[in-house]
Amino acid sequence: MEKRLEVWQVGSPLIHHVGVLVGDLEEAIERWSRGIGYTFSEVGRYRTDFYIDSSDTEPHYHDARISFSREGPPYIELMEFCGEGTHSAAQGEGIHHLGFMDYPDVDGRLRELEAQGIRCDGMALDGPGGKTLLWFTEKQLLHGIRAEYVAELSQPLVMDDGRPAYRDDRGFATLLPPEEGP
Ligand SMILES: [Fe+2]
Repeated sequence: MEKRLEVWQVGSPLIHHVGVLVGDLEEAIERWSRGIGYTFSEVGRYRTDFYIDSSDTEPHYHDARISFSREGPPYIELMEFCGEGTHSAAQGEGIHHLGFMDYPDVDGRLRELEAQGIRCDGMALDGPGGKTLLWFTEKQLLHGIRAEYVAELSQPLVMDDGRPAYRDDRGFATLLPPEEGP
């Protein structure tokens, strides 16, 4: 048993957060705070011009309103419906993805899973033809839940009103002010 645990820890980064898709972010923050006692960051937006998903395989605008729990890991990432693809209302509310942060080789992981017949369902780039910031597996992989692989790069976060996000000690964008960060 000890050996198995060791293998898990070396072979697979642990789940950092659980992404949950919701219809009304403010209402969801209230409901999750009440339901599990977690507290949540200010509302921000994952805003990029370079998102690719089944709704449009050309890089396009994606502006998902989100809030992260202060408690974790695993943290809870509440995300409001947006767009016509991975985060659309048609996906329904509920668990959307298991997030792995600071993944060492997101493109290598993509190739590895594609070789096993597991497709990419959504991806954010850092510019035209740029680096992969994150990507999602197809949701069928985990019985309706995607895996999300997030590169060790700053993500395109802004606050809800468009102000710049806070910065953590690596200079990466975050929704938590430094004094509240992990
Ligand atoms: Fe996520």
